[in-house]
Amino acid sequence: MPDFDNLYQSKRVSATEAMAQLHDGDFIIVPTGVGEPPALLTALSEQRRRFRDIKVAQILALRKYAYFDPETVEHVRHVALFYGPASRAGGQAGWVDFIPNYFGEIPGLIERHQIPADVVFSMASPMDEHGFFALSLGTDYTMAALAQARSIVLEVNPNVPFTHGQCHVHISRVSALVESSEPLLEVGLPVIGPVQQAIGKYVADMIGDGATLQIGYGAIPDAVVMQLVDKHDLGIHTEMVGDGILTLVNCGAVTNRKKNFLPGKMVATFALGSSRLYQFMHRNPMLEMHPVNFTNDPAIAGLNDNLITINASLQIDLLGQCGSESLGRLPYSGTGGQADFVRAANRSRGGKSFIVLPSTAKDDTISRIVPSLSNGTHVTTSKNDVDYVVTEFGVAQLRGKSAQQRARELIHIAHPNFREELRQAADKLG
Ligand code: COA
Repeated sequence: MPDFDNLYQSKRVSATEAMAQLHDGDFIIVPTGVGEPPALLTALSEQRRRFRDIKVAQILALRKYAYFDPETVEHVRHVALFYGPASRAGGQAGWVDFIPNYFGEIPGLIERHQIPADVVFSMASPMDEHGFFALSLGTDYTMAALAQARSIVLEVNPNVPFTHGQCHVHISRVSALVESSEPLLEVGLPVIGPVQQAIGKYVADMIGDGATLQIGYGAIPDAVVMQLVDKHDLGIHTEMVGDGILTLVNCGAVTNRKKNFLPGKMVATFALGSSRLYQFMHRNPMLEMHPVNFTNDPAIAGLNDNLITINASLQIDLLGQCGSESLGRLPYSGTGGQADFVRAANRSRGGKSFIVLPSTAKDDTISRIVPSLSNGTHVTTSKNDVDYVVTEFGVAQLRGKSAQQRARELIHIAHPNFREELRQAADKLG
């Protein structure tokens, strides 16, 4: 048996020393959300002025490291693949870059060198006895980047779970290792008010026992999940695994038994939740973490019969075009897997895609259902793909419906204060 421990020790460096792996002009790939390596990104921030033109690309940047600095972007610049709390303000102000994408297609962009991947900086589990680390928190596009990268730098943290699936990298491929032990970032479940509860109930009533679920990002999808605790034999094929799904597993609603594709297994590509979730993931044979071009490929996800996808939006027009990632021209988040999974549900036998949104924003002063999307809005889900839309006032079913029928369905689920003005606007639009 090769001596992996000696190899491990030979690659161990401090976070400061690990910056020697970088060259000017490098494009660093960092995993989604909580898979971001804090010690490495802190060291990069501290040393940023000695580099030129380094880019850090990531989905959902969570922590605002010092390199998020408009004064030093010629040294290190963030490239958002989906805006998170740390990158949103810079994106709106214009000093954080943005590459539009479908989450499921990012690995393909990396393989075709359309998104460079010179270096990978990632959190990882401790090494197992065979010399493998698990990139369990953000498997996503990082696995594709590993195959291309000149240098792979891991931040090994004992709090990172070792998971099953296709999420492993061998010590022989690793260029440098940094050890850290700080607790992982935790994200709790949102507060569920009456609006979220009403939306959740409408959706729950349309989900049968034995369905397979994808749960999107945002407060409303989580609220829906919490209303599924009385279902039976649900399955999971999703991109994000969070505490909502953990709740369904713990109460026995998720068994994965009825899945026709990968029965018995739940499948995800990144994790965002509490320490309870991360502990649940550790060596759990019920869960597989896979690259995002597997989880989100509509042709693969759609192999699950009765696939139910639940995703949130910010604004929807009377044709059903969903602006889920910007407020007018101001970027807010990204496409993520929304369009991937809406298409997957459309392919799935018995599948249904739900776009869920409160009927209004800003204390009922703004209708989220509008005649036409606000100027500059980025369209996330197209009119051709969208199917069920749910607000606290009911359900609109759009696929196969004419423009006039769609307008009627959507006005019916708008807030009563805005229905008359929407009717008049719809008349004007013909
Ligand atoms: N006009 C003006 N402001 C609006 C608005 C509108 N039409 N719609 C929402 N807002 C405001 C809200 O009031 C809120 O502001 P606040 O934080 O000051 O209260 C903010 O925008 C966010 O809206 P909210 O509905 O609370 O968003 P969320 O945190 O639940 O996230 C999405 C919802 C749509 C941003 C998120 O689900 C997303 O990014 N979706 C697209 C990608 C996706 O679904 N991927 C699948 C999984 S990755």
